[in-house]
Amino acid sequence: MEETKPTPAPPLFSFSNPSGSFGFGFGAAPGPPPPPPPPAVEVLLSEESPIAAGNLEPVVVDDSLSIYKGRVNTSDVFGVKNSDLVPGKYEGGLKLWEGSLDLVKTLNSDIKDDRLLIEGKHILELGCGHGLPGIYAALKGAGLVHFQDFNAEVLRCLTIPNVKANLFKESSQGTFTSRSVGFYAGDWGEIDKLLLRGDAVQDKTTNLQTENEGYRGYDIILMAETVYALDSLPSLYRLIKKCLHYPSGVVYMAGKKHYFGVGGGTRQFLRLVTEDGALQSDLLAEVTDGSSNVREVWKFSFK
Ligand SMILES: C[S@@+](CC[C@H](N)C(=O)[O-])C[C@H]1O[C@@H](n2cnc3c(N)ncnc32)[C@H](O)[C@@H]1O
Repeated sequence: MEETKPTPAPPLFSFSNPSGSFGFGFGAAPGPPPPPPPPAVEVLLSEESPIAAGNLEPVVVDDSLSIYKGRVNTSDVFGVKNSDLVPGKYEGGLKLWEGSLDLVKTLNSDIKDDRLLIEGKHILELGCGHGLPGIYAALKGAGLVHFQDFNAEVLRCLTIPNVKANLFKESSQGTFTSRSVGFYAGDWGEIDKLLLRGDAVQDKTTNLQTENEGYRGYDIILMAETVYALDSLPSLYRLIKKCLHYPSGVVYMAGKKHYFGVGGGTRQFLRLVTEDGALQSDLLAEVTDGSSNVREVWKFSFK
């Protein structure tokens, strides 16, 4: 039988600002400070929202792999129209950002070139939104994948349906089970205890980790387009250091060099990492398509 070619992905870039800068829906005037973050919660696989059902689109990774993603309307979920994000309320997870695919492609080439082994590894995707990098890791044999987003609704409307569509299809040959995934909502400054406990619980149920009674940390942390807001960089970095397995854990980060208008960027995050001195940084990929902001993929590992 002839092999079916995967359908090309629809354009990933849906910035409201055509210059390619980060198109925040802030509005011009400075508003009141953002509300305090909602408490961190675990979201169960069974809490899937029906909103995203039936809207699956393929995203092409390479000739042999496409990942399926849903699509939902921001106004249906958050009552916010045409807005990339509203700080403290909705942090952009309903949209698929370019960095997600940069990250998946970098992981894909690192695996192909034997620079990365994912099989059996414990993975955490921070700021997951659609969760494509975490789903990719699961498809490549990860032992456990945890998805984190600021908004529980993003997990319910998009991440969980995407996970189900790609990992728990009837035709799926994989060994991935509902025990191998976890979903966590909350602010990076507050979610460490929930994540650490989640990984320890999963360790016991899946018997993936026996040499150490306690929590061992994630082997690989993935994140795409999470370093746009200067304010949240310190809590993001602290969370990574708490959750990453020492000494072998690695972080893959995709993002833009600068997020114009909001002050963050990969280089601002890198400055924190360098000042702290615990992690080594390696630039894995630079994407300059001539029309948008320079994007990068970095890898961090303990020195
Ligand atoms: C621009 S979206 C990127 C989504 C996805 N990674 C992608 O590339 O398509 C930023 C993500 O970071 C998360 N995020 C932003 N600030 C956060 C914070 N302070 N605490 C927890 N999550 C946060 C959001 O929930 C969202 O999923």
